[in-house]
Parts: sequence; structure tokens; C-alpha cells
Amino acid sequence: MSHPTQSDARHMWRMARDSGVLDVNSSYSYLLWCTDFPSTSVVATIDNQPVGFITGYIRPSGSLMIWQVGVDEASRGKGLAASMLAWLADSLAALQGEPLVMETTVTQSNMASRALFAGFARRRGMVLTESTGFGLELFPDAHEAEPLLRLTPQDPHKTPNNRA
Ligand SMILES: CC(C)(COP(=O)(O)OP(=O)(O)OC[C@H]1O[C@@H](n2cnc3c(N)ncnc32)[C@H](O)[C@@H]1OP(=O)(O)O)[C@@H](O)C(=O)NCCC(=O)NCCS
Repeated sequence: MSHPTQSDARHMWRMARDSGVLDVNSSYSYLLWCTDFPSTSVVATIDNQPVGFITGYIRPSGSLMIWQVGVDEASRGKGLAASMLAWLADSLAALQGEPLVMETTVTQSNMASRALFAGFARRRGMVLTESTGFGLELFPDAHEAEPLLRLTPQDPHKTPNNRA
């Protein structure tokens, strides 16, 4: 598990494309991401091959926005996405000195992603709330609505001891 470098960008683009679910952004955008936001992103490797990634950034509010999570099909269902999320949250909380508020948007139909964030919140005793996020009317194409999930530490001054 590590923060991505520019040489990981091509793999992140490939994993997003091959997921069949994630929006496929330009290969250039993943390069920009790995250049400017590596410390809020993560890549997981097996035998030196990237098999999973998370892109995230710190919002003006200070919360960690998780943008995309992708795991290669062959590596799914083994806890990799949960481990990447835990690794990223812990590395940023250590820098910040307290647990993070985390946010993401997830379509109604993406059960795997919903289970990922629900499980993370449950293990860490975080409060999970859902609000409108980005409604259908905001998208110019056939994109599904993207409700906003917000994961808040129950006590922001107490470090949870029940790690993922
Ligand atoms: C969503 C995704 C990243 C999950 O990766 P993963 O490594 O298989 O997930 P994990 O093994 O860490 O599982 C995390 C939780 O999700 C649950 N889960 C995983 N896949 C699931 C599925 N297909 N249906 C329902 N629950 C699922 C697991 O049981 C686990 O739950 P728990 O914490 O309660 O035990 C992966 O399925 C993927 O890349 N999907 C395509 C891209 C995508 O949809 N990304 C998310 C939107 S940003």
C-alpha cells in the first residue's frame, strides 16, 4: 500500500476503464491526480502489480472526499478496498492529529461501494448519513444520481481503537 506516483497513473486509468462501473476520466487527469494529490490517494499492489486504487482530496471544509475506488476484478472480495480506505484514513488522521470526516458519492445501484463505506463506518463507530449530493438534473448525460455519504467520527477528539 502506498501513495501513487506518476507511473501509477496509467494503471489507475486502466483499472477505472476495466471496472465497467467507474467514470473513465482521461488518462491525463490521472496523471494530474498523481502529481497533485498523491498524499490523499492510494495504490495497492500484489507482486508489484497495481490491483487497486483510491483517489481522494481534502475539501475546503477539511473533510476527505473519496472520489474513485477501484479494485481489479480478480482481487475483489478479499478486503482490499476496505484496507486501502483504512490505510488512507489512518495516514491522514496521523497527519491531522484526529480522525477525519470522510465523504463520497455513491449511486443507489452500487451495492458493493455502499457495503464498503457502511462496513468502514460500522467498524470505526462512525456515523453514516446520506443526503442528496448530485441529483440527476445536474448531469448532462445518462449518469445516475450520486447521493452524498458522510462518515463522521462520533467523538472527533477521541481516536477510535477499533481499526478496520
Ligand atoms: C467497490 C469495490 C472497490 C470493492 O472492492 P473490494 O476489494 O472487493 O471490497 P472489500 O473486499 O474490501 O469489501 C468491502 C465491503 O464490501 C462488501 N462487498 C464487496 N463487494 C460486494 C458486492 N459485490 N456486493 C455487496 N457487498 C460487497 C464486502 O462484503 C465488505 O463488507 P463488510 O465490510 O461488511 O465485510 C470493487 O467492487 C470495485 O472495484 N467495483 C467497481 C468500481 C466501483 O464500483 N467503485 C466504487 C465506486 S467509487
